[in-house]
Amino acid sequence: MDKAAFYAPLVRGAIIARLGRPCVVVRAQEALDGTVVTLSGAEDEKDAAALITRAVAGAEKVPCRVTLNVGGETIPFMAGEDFSAVALLEGGGSVDFPSTVGVENIVNVRARTMRNRVCLVTGGAQGFGEEIVRGLCEGGAIVFIADLNLAGAQALAEKLNGEHGGKTVAFAVEVNVGDEASVAAMFEKVALTTGGLDLCVSNAGVLRAQPILEQDIGAFAFVTGINYTGFAIITKHAGLLMRRQFLAADAAASADAAASPWPTDIIQINSKSGLEGSNKNGAYAGSKFGGIGLVQSFAKELVDYGIKVNAVCPGNFFDGPLWSDPEKGLFAQYLRTGKVPGAKTVADVKAFYEAKVPMGRGCCGPDVLRAIYYLVEQVYETGQALPVTGGQVMLS
Ligand SMILES: NC(=O)c1ccc[n+]([C@@H]2O[C@H](COP(=O)([O-])OP(=O)(O)OC[C@H]3O[C@@H](n4cnc5c(N)ncnc54)[C@H](O)[C@@H]3O)[C@@H](O)[C@H]2O)c1
Repeated sequence: MDKAAFYAPLVRGAIIARLGRPCVVVRAQEALDGTVVTLSGAEDEKDAAALITRAVAGAEKVPCRVTLNVGGETIPFMAGEDFSAVALLEGGGSVDFPSTVGVENIVNVRARTMRNRVCLVTGGAQGFGEEIVRGLCEGGAIVFIADLNLAGAQALAEKLNGEHGGKTVAFAVEVNVGDEASVAAMFEKVALTTGGLDLCVSNAGVLRAQPILEQDIGAFAFVTGINYTGFAIITKHAGLLMRRQFLAADAAASADAAASPWPTDIIQINSKSGLEGSNKNGAYAGSKFGGIGLVQSFAKELVDYGIKVNAVCPGNFFDGPLWSDPEKGLFAQYLRTGKVPGAKTVADVKAFYEAKVPMGRGCCGPDVLRAIYYLVEQVYETGQALPVTGGQVMLS
C-alpha cells in the first residue's frame, strides 16, 4: 500500500480527536513547517497512532500542517475543514480550524450531522445510490460516488459540483464491489484524497429474479457475489481504513478526557426482501437475509474500533430505474408477461404494487436518507436492520 494512504487516516483520526468533528487531510507536495512526527516505519498501526496522536495533541492549536518522517522519508500532510481551507494552505496561506461548536440542541445537531463528513456510496451513479449521494451532498458532506459505471459516476459528480457553485462536494471512483483488488484500490484512493472516511454506504446491489426450478446457478452465484460477498469485501476494506483513523482518535481520547473517539458508520442498503422471503426471487432475498447476518456479526467485531454497522431495509423504489425504466423496468416487464391479472398499462401495474403498501406509495430517496441520518446520529446502536417500508414489512 502507498505509505501516504496508510498514514493519512492516522493523521486524520488524531486531528478529529482534537476537533470533535470531521476534516479533510491531503498530502502536500513539499515539506511544511508545523507539527513534525518521527517514526521508524517499523511500528504497528497502534503504536504509530499513539505517536502521531501525542504530537498532534501537544500542538498549541489544532495543527493544519503535519509532517511525518518515516524511516528517513518525509510525508507532509495538510489538513483543513474542507478543500477550500486546504487550497489556502497550498497557496502558502495560513488557516486555523474554527473553534469547536459548544453544546447544541438536537435540531442544530441535525443541521450539521453531515457537514464535512467524508462519505462513500457504492452503486452511487443511479437509483437509490444517486438519491443518497445527492442528499448527503445537500447536507454538506464530501461524497465518493463509487460505481462500476464510471462515466455515470463522473457525470453525477460534475453535476453536483456545478450545483454547489464549483465547490468540490463529490468525486467519482470506479469500483467493482465483487472484486477485492478493485475495492482495496478504491479505499487507497479515498485515503489519498480525503485522509479517511466517516460513512460508507454499501448500496450497490443486483437482482436476477427467477424461480429456483428454472434458475441458472451462475445467475444465482452472481447475485450472491455482489449483494452478499461484495458487502463483506466493502466492510473489510472500509473497516481497515476506519480502524486506523479510530486508533489515533482513541489514543487521544485515552490521554485527554476532552478529546473524543470518533464513531464511524458502515450502512448496508439491504431490502424488505432481507426480512421476508420473496417469491421466485430467492437469490436476491437469500443474499439480503445473509446481509443481515453479516451486519450483526460485523457489528460485534468492529465495535472495538468505534465502527457501527447497520442496515436500512427499504421497500420498493417504484420511481427508480429498476421499476420505472420504460424498457427494462419491472413495471414494463410485468405488463409484458401478464404478471398482474387485468393490467392494461404500466400505471395499472404500478397501482397494483402500491396497493400492497399500507402507506399507499413506494419508498423514495428521502425515506432512506432519514434512516441513514438516524443511524449516523445515534451513538448507542449497532447491528440493527431498520425497515423503511411504509408498513409493508414489520419486525417480529
Ligand atoms: N429499487 C428498489 O426497489 C429497491 C428496494 C429495496 C432495496 N433496494 C436495494 O437498493 C440498492 C440499490 O438498488 P437500485 O434499485 O437503486 O439499483 P440500480 O440498479 O438502479 O443501481 C445500482 C447501481 O449499482 C451499480 N453497480 C452494480 N453492480 C456493481 C458492482 N459490482 N460494483 C459497483 N457498482 C455496481 C450500477 O452501475 C448502478 O449504478 C440495492 O442494494 C438494492 O438491493 C432496491
